[in-house]
Amino acid sequence: MLTRRQLIAGAAVTVAGAAAVTGALKWRKAYTRKLGPPLKLVPSKTSPLELVATERPTSLPCFKGRSLPMWTFNDGVWPPVIRLKLGERLDVALKNQLPRADESTSIHWHGCRLPNNQDGVPYLVQKPVMPGEDFRYNFMPPDTGTFFFHTHCNTVEQLGRGLQGILIVDGDTTEPYDADVVLFLRDWQVDLDNSNFNSFFTLRGAGRAGTYAPVRSVNGATNPDIALPAGGDCRLRLINGDPTRIMMLSVEDTEAAIVAIDGFAVEPVPLTSWTLGPAMRIDLVIRAPDTGKRAKLIDDSISGRVELANFVGTGTSLARPDFDPAPLHAVRIAEPDLASAARFDFAFDRTDTGQFVATSLDNPVLIGPLCLSSRSFWSINGHSWPDRDHAQLPPPFAVLDRGKSYIFTLKNNSSFSHPIHIHGHTFKLLSSDKQDRPPHHTDTLMLVPGETAEVAFVADNPGEWMFHCHIIEHQETGMMNYFTVA
Ligand code: C2O
Ligand code: CU
Repeated sequence: MLTRRQLIAGAAVTVAGAAAVTGALKWRKAYTRKLGPPLKLVPSKTSPLELVATERPTSLPCFKGRSLPMWTFNDGVWPPVIRLKLGERLDVALKNQLPRADESTSIHWHGCRLPNNQDGVPYLVQKPVMPGEDFRYNFMPPDTGTFFFHTHCNTVEQLGRGLQGILIVDGDTTEPYDADVVLFLRDWQVDLDNSNFNSFFTLRGAGRAGTYAPVRSVNGATNPDIALPAGGDCRLRLINGDPTRIMMLSVEDTEAAIVAIDGFAVEPVPLTSWTLGPAMRIDLVIRAPDTGKRAKLIDDSISGRVELANFVGTGTSLARPDFDPAPLHAVRIAEPDLASAARFDFAFDRTDTGQFVATSLDNPVLIGPLCLSSRSFWSINGHSWPDRDHAQLPPPFAVLDRGKSYIFTLKNNSSFSHPIHIHGHTFKLLSSDKQDRPPHHTDTLMLVPGETAEVAFVADNPGEWMFHCHIIEHQETGMMNYFTVA
């Protein structure tokens, strides 16, 4: 029986028994070692931190000597890194000192299964933090792994200018790696000749794959050399912090395995190439090259092959046995009960306006008189988020029963890819009819054009939770909604 609550905003729902899964997951197994047992959460100490969002003229190495009016959360090296041990609370005082009178901000702790009032979505779970105001975030991240945090206000510009950082929750290794390195990947929408930013939002981009930026970077530098202990097994935490770009990542000239996806452990699988959209993460273990030798991180996405970083073997070579990377501890996420799960179907698509914009790109005269004030280019089940911010809340697409399992069928009816992000919960990928991926947990699932994927989760976190595409120009032009767990 459907309850009335499950039918709120027109999302198609059926209560089904164990559903036929379309397209089983497969992946080449090449290693022998098993995941460690899930960890226990043991509360420990807290060290308070302060993040001050403000404009800081910054000269990242990739800006080639120019200083740009970045907006950042910290002084010193960008991006900021918050590093905790499992069981430690995150305790952050956010101060908004942004340079415009109405520039509110907030912090979303992307991928964390946190209490709803810590989730950082303005209007939905907290008041936007106005200039001159503070907000304290204080929660215990329940999962180890590689996460990141970012503004959830005027995101296309604030993220474009750099309001983001890295969150690492330690304690997941079953044995120490020889190195642990974070690689924060993003582009910059900059005009280096004029030492300023280009516009972060374009109709052309928003109606298509998003506005790609011209300057690539890894940890703020163009194609940097990263020293690794020669011959060692090194953990690389790759985070796509870009508002827009979908990368197709591979490692050349050495062996590489994926050990975690979106921070959540998987049995190690060989990396061939991996599609890493905005907000997605993978943890790799690579065998560092011998002394003085190099390996490369490559992006082979639509714009062609780009070398993103070099790994340089340094010091006396560690004589490690054949590559069989140490796995992490298994996830601590509740297993959904597929037999009793309720199903929701979601279709991700353009709106008619989006269709019109995409097809009239080379004829601005056509776009000129069109009323684009609502900028609804993208939709979920035919609904577009009503505004560019969250000030006017529509009803949730559904109220989910706390503790119950759900299967979402996610169908991409458009000709562009969409990394679909769920707040406060973590999907378990069940099936896909287009992409070959190992079974894994994810908070941001890439859907390629025409793809149908099935994911499942236990709605075990009460509150109002966003569900949106993480290409920010898609999110801000309609591909966003939320659900309630009660
Ligand atoms: Cu990282 Cu609502 O997003
Ligand atoms: Cu999208």
